[in-house]
Amino acid sequence: MADTTLTRRKDFLSVLDFDAADLERCLELAAQLKSDRSLGRHAPTADILDGHHIAMLFDKPSLRTRTTFEIAIRELGGHLVALQADVALGRREPVGDVARNLERWVDAVIIRTFSQDVLQEFAAAARRLHVVNALTDQEHPCQAIADFLTLQERLGQLRGRTIAYVGDGNNVATSLAHAAAMLGVHVHVASPEPYQLPHAVVQQATSVARHGARLRLFSDAADAVAGADAIYTDTWTSMGQEQEAELRRGIFGPYQVNEELMSLAKPGALFMHCLPAHRGEEVTADVFESDASVVFDQAENRLHGQKALLMMLLAPAAGL
Ligand code: CP
Ligand code: NVA
Repeated sequence: MADTTLTRRKDFLSVLDFDAADLERCLELAAQLKSDRSLGRHAPTADILDGHHIAMLFDKPSLRTRTTFEIAIRELGGHLVALQADVALGRREPVGDVARNLERWVDAVIIRTFSQDVLQEFAAAARRLHVVNALTDQEHPCQAIADFLTLQERLGQLRGRTIAYVGDGNNVATSLAHAAAMLGVHVHVASPEPYQLPHAVVQQATSVARHGARLRLFSDAADAVAGADAIYTDTWTSMGQEQEAELRRGIFGPYQVNEELMSLAKPGALFMHCLPAHRGEEVTADVFESDASVVFDQAENRLHGQKALLMMLLAPAAGL
């Protein structure tokens, strides 16, 4: 591995907590860790988090994020503290008190919860604790690392590429837009009017954009996918919005990713999804199962991306 010294960051609540150099370094490190793992080579990272306790707290369901963080911690020699949902973040005692307890025992906390504000309040209350966003209603930054690792593997050079995100302008779309802007990737987001990416996210992405990356919002999915190297979608109904599922199914119908929509993108365009997917809703079964689909590469890359992230936060002086 290169002997670049990693930047020390306290938290990863948002892609915006990284600068472009951090993000590029994270992708480079993740690719190296993936290659080492495929060769069965675990040193020199196998004990890099030895002596570090890392807690995980999930207020919402998870398959990928929880499993990959558990394996990541284990493979780096760290020690997992799996907190139970009965911690009831912010309901049994103030959020800041939970944080100030945990910082007396552990080095980092990985949290999946509802509000980004709660996560920020938690991180601000404990100066010594590293806090990682494992998904909030507003952002899903760990997903974005895996997404761009996958795109880099498939497309090589990322700069100047175009991703079309079709569907709800949600947490996954937000982190994708943040990371794309920093990496010089254009993003076209097609959503029904009330579900467009928030204006604040457009402003954030614009303010961190490099190499001429542009974020453009569309109402028509066909317009958004023209010339795209990849089409990305996510569930129409995110966790916590279950009561709106029927309404959303009615509104999002024209935003389904199907073979016809795929045929309007660049020839050979990839299909991406953070998962879990709902066949017959945001994506058809044939697109999901097609050769264009890289969804399980994305899922695998959650592991490698999060190992790199944990190293950057907790062992930046490792000099790997
Ligand atoms: N993509 C993702 O975050 O999956 P989980 O909800 O299963 O963790
Ligand atoms: N937008 C989805 C992502 C799931 C990984 C949700 O928040 O439920």
